[in-house]
Amino acid sequence: MSFLGSALVTTSTDPHALLAGARARVAAAADLQALQALERELLGKSGPAGLILASIPTLPPEQRKAAGAQANELKRALEEACAARRTALESAALESERSGGDFDPTLPPAPLERGGLHPVTRVVRELEDLFTSMGYTILDGPEVELDWYNFEALNIPKDHPARDAQDTFYCDPAGRLVLRTHTSPVQVRAMERMQPPFRAIVPGKVFRNEATDASHEHTFHQMEGLVVGKDVSVGHLIGAMKTLLRGVFGRDIEIRLRPGYFPFVEPGFELDARCPFCTSGCRVCKQSTWIELLPCGMVHPNVLKSGGIDPEQWTGFAFGLGLSRLVMLRYGIDDVRHLLSGDLRFLEQF
Ligand code: DAH
Repeated sequence: MSFLGSALVTTSTDPHALLAGARARVAAAADLQALQALERELLGKSGPAGLILASIPTLPPEQRKAAGAQANELKRALEEACAARRTALESAALESERSGGDFDPTLPPAPLERGGLHPVTRVVRELEDLFTSMGYTILDGPEVELDWYNFEALNIPKDHPARDAQDTFYCDPAGRLVLRTHTSPVQVRAMERMQPPFRAIVPGKVFRNEATDASHEHTFHQMEGLVVGKDVSVGHLIGAMKTLLRGVFGRDIEIRLRPGYFPFVEPGFELDARCPFCTSGCRVCKQSTWIELLPCGMVHPNVLKSGGIDPEQWTGFAFGLGLSRLVMLRYGIDDVRHLLSGDLRFLEQF
């Protein structure tokens, strides 16, 4: 190393002695922790290189450059010594771990943490099984949707409150793209692609720009259902809904239909189910013994037309299951915001 042979530079510190002393200390470092402390000391401001650097202002100008070079080389030499010692200590530690008396290679590994299925996923899978067993196809649709499919094609007029900026996340200034506010747009997409007769369900996320509370969230899940065929009637709708309830709650559950208004069905209904949790009123059914389960109805002729299907030949029914709500009912979850919180304390319970 050049500075060892350099007698030109004279500083208040002797580099030979400094390096030799420091190297001896590095070589003697007993473990990685000691080495780390030493490294911090030797490579810091009051280490050998640091001392030389600090002395530069006191030197005659013509010696300063050489002193700087000397400090750098000293630093590099110390870094090398430390790295070599680190390698030696690490392999020694590994070796002693391997050969040490308390190393037991037959010990079983720590158990792996297993993830679980999200409660929404569980219910969706159950419903998919149930509906595919009845001949339904499972469909998917875009979450960023055209205004046409989300509103226009569903017979939702321009002045319908669902179009209010309060409720809808618009994605572009022209308002052509929205985050779908329901799964119903996939009804029309399905009609465009599938030849009647067909049956389909569409589980998925939907979005509403509204204030959140225990029963409202900007993002939640729905499951659309659509059946198109010859002479499909309200009777078929009721039959399908009873089967759905039997699948979800494991027994027959009484239902009732009330009139409900949705622009894309005629007639439209609100379907209520007898409260599965009580016989004479409870917190879940708000003491009424009925639970509002889902809106549904007979597909409006204008919607069939939007999807390219002749309403003179074909009829259909549709339903919009509030999946998040059903999951909450099923597992007794009291706040919808838990579902998408990502909170492990919640998720680990399933
Ligand atoms: N898409 C409606 C909503 O989110 C719910 C709905 C009502 C869906 C009636 C339907 C239906 O399929 O027939 O508010």
